[in-house]
Amino acid sequence: MARDRRPAKAPKAAKVRKAVLTRTVEEFEAAFWPDEQPVDNAVVMTMGALHEGHAALVRAARRQVGQDGRVAVTVFVNPLQFGAGEDLDRYPRTLDEDLALAEEMGADVVFAPSVDEVYPNGEPLVRISAGPMGEGFEGAARPGHFDGVLTIVAKLLHITDPDFAVFGEKDAQQLALVRRMVADLDFDVEVVGVPTVREEDGLALSSRNRFLSEAERDRALVLSRALFAGRDAGARGPKAVREAAAAVLEGADGVSPDYLALVDPLSFTEAPDDFQGEAVLAVAARVGSTRLIDNVSVIVR
Ligand code: PAF
Repeated sequence: MARDRRPAKAPKAAKVRKAVLTRTVEEFEAAFWPDEQPVDNAVVMTMGALHEGHAALVRAARRQVGQDGRVAVTVFVNPLQFGAGEDLDRYPRTLDEDLALAEEMGADVVFAPSVDEVYPNGEPLVRISAGPMGEGFEGAARPGHFDGVLTIVAKLLHITDPDFAVFGEKDAQQLALVRRMVADLDFDVEVVGVPTVREEDGLALSSRNRFLSEAERDRALVLSRALFAGRDAGARGPKAVREAAAAVLEGADGVSPDYLALVDPLSFTEAPDDFQGEAVLAVAARVGSTRLIDNVSVIVR
């Protein structure tokens, strides 16, 4: 067969961008919609302390809108989603590094407002309720957390008005709730889920990993091992999935599991024993004083 001698088509070079830092809604709007040109745009919402997991979200946002579209990253530590005893003040704030990473990953605008800019009338009296879907699992451990999350996500969707909103699958219950809010309350946006980024040994990337000692980090690997064991049992049904994962987790040294659950991603409630299709196997555990969550998608037959 004749060889194709055409030179390989060079991939379209990524634009060199300078991400603009904006602190007010007015500045954001001027930077995100500099002209009337209709282009696709996407938002990645974060609380800062950006890592490779967030970088994957920004890259996914860029893929959605193309080189000519616009990508915004919001950086806002939302007080509404922190409960009593959860240390809002200790949450890492690394705006300079965040700006550099967001720019490197292809963001056009970073929106990092103050609390007063976002909540000019103080704590909002009216909030989004996550309802029963926000009461189990993470919601049980952190009462009111998802009301706070959905309230800020709704506000940021109004402010940024994107075509696409990109969220990590790592926070599976959050993603399920955002999808549900968008569907139930008619938000005009497409929610895009991005697979969890893992270290080579399976540990899911998380802003909280920085709190783990080396020994705790080793112990934390049991979480992904349990999830992978559950996933491998998918062909044998929900009960087998739960048992396989629980067997790995059982008696793990220095790890206190909070929950291990196989859930229907649409409702985030326990998948019944005759469930078939794509489920989410989710785990939460305390390793030392750090609470970690992780999940995998499982095809259950
Ligand atoms: O996932 C997060 O970082 C936060 O919950 C979010 C979506 C940015 C809302 O504050």
